[in-house]
Amino acid sequence: MDHPRPELFEFHGVSLTHYFTDNWENVQNFKARPDDIVVATYPKAGTTWVSYILDLLYFRQTHPERETTIPIYKRVPFLELSMPLEPSGTDKAGTLTTSPRIIKTHLPVQFIPKSFWEQNCKIVYCTRNAKDNVVSYFHFDRMENIQPEPGDWSSFLKRFKEGKMVFGSWFDHVCGWWEKKQTYSNIHYMFFEDLVEDTGREIKRLCSFLGLSTSEEEKEKIKGDVHFDVMKANRMTNLSDDDTLDFSVSQFLRKGKVGDWKNHFTVAQNEQFDELYKQKMKNTSLQFRTEI
Ligand code: A3P
Repeated sequence: MDHPRPELFEFHGVSLTHYFTDNWENVQNFKARPDDIVVATYPKAGTTWVSYILDLLYFRQTHPERETTIPIYKRVPFLELSMPLEPSGTDKAGTLTTSPRIIKTHLPVQFIPKSFWEQNCKIVYCTRNAKDNVVSYFHFDRMENIQPEPGDWSSFLKRFKEGKMVFGSWFDHVCGWWEKKQTYSNIHYMFFEDLVEDTGREIKRLCSFLGLSTSEEEKEKIKGDVHFDVMKANRMTNLSDDDTLDFSVSQFLRKGKVGDWKNHFTVAQNEQFDELYKQKMKNTSLQFRTEI
């Protein structure tokens, strides 16, 4: 099916497209369960990677058939996504039969359905340094037909700096969730760079946050299975059957590196970005690494 590229518009102060606002009432009224696990991210910060780690931690041993039969985006539904002729993200989440339900969202913290807070659900927020994040987002928008036209790199970077991206400003997103973490203890705030640096350590941290007593052997196995090359070769995790993605333009699992921004930013773009970054991040204790 053809998916026309949508327009971006302001929605309660955040740039979005209709694919994420069409089902708004149902998203806002979504009934969470106390054992739901939410994977929250700004787009392109490692959502699929973290979703897959969580799915393996919870279900590989009890439901091994999932591994070869259900693509990751079906195991972990995208809460606010609403596409014509398809069940909405809330419907998909509502009909999950496994427990806990693992649910993906890109919503900024102020838009999270209140039921998740009321039920004190565990939330894994994964984030990524702004420079690699925008590069990854640019290549994604080139291949994802349900995203607005990306334009060229320099105009995309300009829009990113202005927060005119689907799901709004990266700065507001990462800082909003960071602030929430200071008062809501069930958020595990993690970094893409840490995952690249030491996946095994991050899996252990996740287990400890989630209260899982996964064996060392199983954790080692998961570490191998979530390696970039393995996920890229795995039809259940490389999104190759997603018909809105144009794989002739780019790859979903594209590079998976820290520091690819250096291949995209000009010296001037980098200096201007650093200047803006300093201003935008001056009131937060949140720190990122742009290389490891
Ligand atoms: P790049 O475009 O820089 O390669 P999301 O799932 O939030 O859309 O994020 C996608 C980004 O995460 C892509 O970044 C993708 O390659 C990267 N990624 C996904 N799985 C990965 C893995 N196992 N190891 C490293 N990077 C991974």
